Amino acid sequence: MSLSEKLYKWFDERLKLRELLPPIVKHPAPEKVTSNPLYCLGGTAFLCFLILVVTGMFLAMYYKPTPVEAYNSVKRIMTEVPMGSLIRSIHHWAANTMIAAVMLHMMRIYFMGAYKKPRELNWVVGVSLLLITTTFGFSGYLLPWDQLAFWATKIGTGIAGSIPVIGVYISLILVGGTDIGAETLTRFYAIHVLILPATIVVLLVLHFMMVRLQGISGRL
Ligand code: HEM
Repeated sequence: MSLSEKLYKWFDERLKLRELLPPIVKHPAPEKVTSNPLYCLGGTAFLCFLILVVTGMFLAMYYKPTPVEAYNSVKRIMTEVPMGSLIRSIHHWAANTMIAAVMLHMMRIYFMGAYKKPRELNWVVGVSLLLITTTFGFSGYLLPWDQLAFWATKIGTGIAGSIPVIGVYISLILVGGTDIGAETLTRFYAIHVLILPATIVVLLVLHFMMVRLQGISGRL
């Protein structure tokens, strides 16, 4: 018996893998999905998300979320940390690609009418995923704490603040006061690495469960 078979047997005896895995793993994607790249856009967005999680973990080992240290810690990642600039670039491009993939995925759903009954709820979950994806980008933009980051955040929080009635509260929660400063940076960091990842994982599980339950729309 090979090592992999022995390992499988060891886990199977404890976790009943033989019953648990087949319904999950042995579920071939329908022919229309494997033959049409438009059906890969959701998967592309998910792949980008996984890349962002891994590269983000490495960046978090060197990034320091304080106004005094943030800029220099990013500079250090780019110039001193081994493969730091590569990891940061991959994080940057995966973020941009994810936003593009989510937008295109949403357009595919819209133009193919895949949001119609019984998939309305999954559309609503999808809209929340789009909001979270863009908020990821917005909150990450401030972290390098340079001029571009500062003024982009000033404009972004200003736009949020101009929403009637609730805008002023949203701006206060985001900025952590009246001016962008240390409080804002800590908040954006917490939003970027804790609040959004936890929320997106819950929504992705719901999204995928519904896709699995309802199947992919259209004729097979
Ligand atoms: C983080 C963002 C997202 C990820 C990772 C994701 C992932 C996926 C995947 C892998 C599928 C199955 C394959 C496919 O159709 O591409 C899917 C289907 C679906 N997604 Fe998304 N999605 C995201 C955002 C959205 C958005 C923004 C919407 C719409 C507002 C949306 C609505 C749907 C719907 C309705 C389906 C079912 C499609 C069908 O049955 O044909 N998703 N998603």
